[in-house]
Amino acid sequence: MCGIVGYIGKHAAAPVILDGLSKLEYRGYDSAGMAVFDGKHIQIRKSAGRLKVLEELTHGGATMPGNIGVGHTRWATHGAPSDINSHPHYNAEETIAVVHNGIIENYLPLKEKLVSKGYTFVSDTDTEVLAHLIDYYYKGNPLEAITKVMHRVQGSYALGILFAEHPDQIFAVRKDSPLIVGQNEDGCFIASDVPAILKYTRKVYFIQNQEVVRLRADHMHFYTVDEEEITKEPVTIEWDANAAEKGGYAHFMLKEMYEQPKTVTDTLSPRIKDKDIVIEELGMTEEEIKAIHKIFIVACGSAYHAGVTGKYVIEGIARIPVEVDVASEFRYRNPILEEGTMVIVISQSGETADTLAALRESQQLGHKVLGIVNVVGSSIAREADNVMYTWAGPEIAVATTKAYSAQLIALYLLAIKFGKVRGKLDEVAFYRMLEDLKRLPAQIEMLLANKQRIQRFANRYIGAKDVFFIGRGTDFAISMEGSLKLKEISYIHSEAYAAGELKHGTISLIEKGTLVAAVVTQDALFQKTLSNMVEVKARGAFVLAVTNEGNTEIEKAADYVIYIPRTNQYFTNSLAIIPLQLFGYYVAVGKGCDVDKPRNLAKSVTVE
Ligand code: AGP
Ligand code: GLU
Repeated sequence: MCGIVGYIGKHAAAPVILDGLSKLEYRGYDSAGMAVFDGKHIQIRKSAGRLKVLEELTHGGATMPGNIGVGHTRWATHGAPSDINSHPHYNAEETIAVVHNGIIENYLPLKEKLVSKGYTFVSDTDTEVLAHLIDYYYKGNPLEAITKVMHRVQGSYALGILFAEHPDQIFAVRKDSPLIVGQNEDGCFIASDVPAILKYTRKVYFIQNQEVVRLRADHMHFYTVDEEEITKEPVTIEWDANAAEKGGYAHFMLKEMYEQPKTVTDTLSPRIKDKDIVIEELGMTEEEIKAIHKIFIVACGSAYHAGVTGKYVIEGIARIPVEVDVASEFRYRNPILEEGTMVIVISQSGETADTLAALRESQQLGHKVLGIVNVVGSSIAREADNVMYTWAGPEIAVATTKAYSAQLIALYLLAIKFGKVRGKLDEVAFYRMLEDLKRLPAQIEMLLANKQRIQRFANRYIGAKDVFFIGRGTDFAISMEGSLKLKEISYIHSEAYAAGELKHGTISLIEKGTLVAAVVTQDALFQKTLSNMVEVKARGAFVLAVTNEGNTEIEKAADYVIYIPRTNQYFTNSLAIIPLQLFGYYVAVGKGCDVDKPRNLAKSVTVE
């Protein structure tokens, strides 16, 4: 979901595009490319690697003359980072060029159809389907071809499109992936995000879903997917350039928290087809799934915490024994991996040294490894036997939020798939779970809207010295992540404890005013954790509770309650984590910490 920039106007397009793409680099990408109409043909230059490679390739754009062009920074989802997989993609005659942010979910059947009609493909991407499909429908009218494609394609897309037969126009299209257009006295612009064109204009139009824009050098026209012309009102951007990089949010971490509904949707929806769970990339037959005797989940940090949730969920739904280990321990304890053991490694970056080593150790012991990874083409993605991508897009903040939420979704999908194949889930339970999963994005959205209340509560604890997070079952798993979120960005000491374990020693640390956050979403364990809350309260603790709507009984033992919407008991971590993320974030902000780049931490720990 990285970066698109387009320009048509009085000036050379390539330098404007390169400048705009440089303002989007912060979003993380792996390749870059440009298409510029030079008066006769569409020239295309693209390559894997940094934007600098493209700048050098085109001498700062000088070798790509022309006043109309589109450019792209790619964050690979389908097809590893490579020159040929970079954007723009184009039709065989190179008369149509497309740049795309997003995921074309039904690209495979569309590709098969186009191949059957004689089209040939040169890349492994989903995007290339768009170039050939536009070509297939193009009979001289770009808008007609584009809207026909929009009716056929499923998924998310922001598009910039050039037609060599219409060198006085650029077309922009949006569904789910963000796209804006703008204009000044020198021309018109398209961009994925405000920073790319802020230096040229502060008056922008936010393109809405299923809208098409035709940009000429001195004016723009807006259309619906049914080719009806519409008018739109511009928005004046008040942000400064720095704030604009974060989409108006104060920090990338907050921006990425707010991207979680989309992250969950992007990870979920391509894998729910015709009311079934389809995980093509799993690479396992139903027989192989039935033959699994044990699962090892190995990861570090938050990815490990997601793995702990995975243990409870997979064991609960699919009844397969699961052992979870931090990679730095797993790789040195000579693990016992018997016949029928499946190894799953989880990693946002796909470059964590310990996790990569654990993957290699497992393979040396003769076991296939499934990677749950966010960065396409990363080391773990390349070396795993099969990869289930989390499609969270680039995560900039060191403290993970949206990638962690996507990891939970991947693990739920595996648990439900395995449970169904192994006969542990009846049809009714299966469909109910699918419906509960589909409701999560909207429920997350609701919880994110609650941020002011959490900010006020967090401000009381910027001076805290020790904070404890407690829970049972998956509530314990999410307590781990809540605790890490707080300590890694606010530098306040915090620990997560199985609620029943606190009394075996650590409760001696509880004194008057100590904050204890109790996560109590597991109905079957509600009374047990309630007792633990009473225990710590009796010793002076201030108790924050995170529980399901309706559990008002908790108010007799809690000093402050955050209610989360009801969902399947196995999925509550996806909701409980939201207030805990916001709490950690606002405590850190209140302390004036560098939220996006906490001291001592790296986004990817590529050393042991
Ligand atoms: C998460 O907030 C931390 N930044 C850290 O624990 C991280 O989860 C861990 O380093 C694993 O990283 P990975 O997912 O990229 O492998
Ligand atoms: N899905 C497309 C690809 O993998 C676009 C990725 C992006 O948004 O950058 O090439």
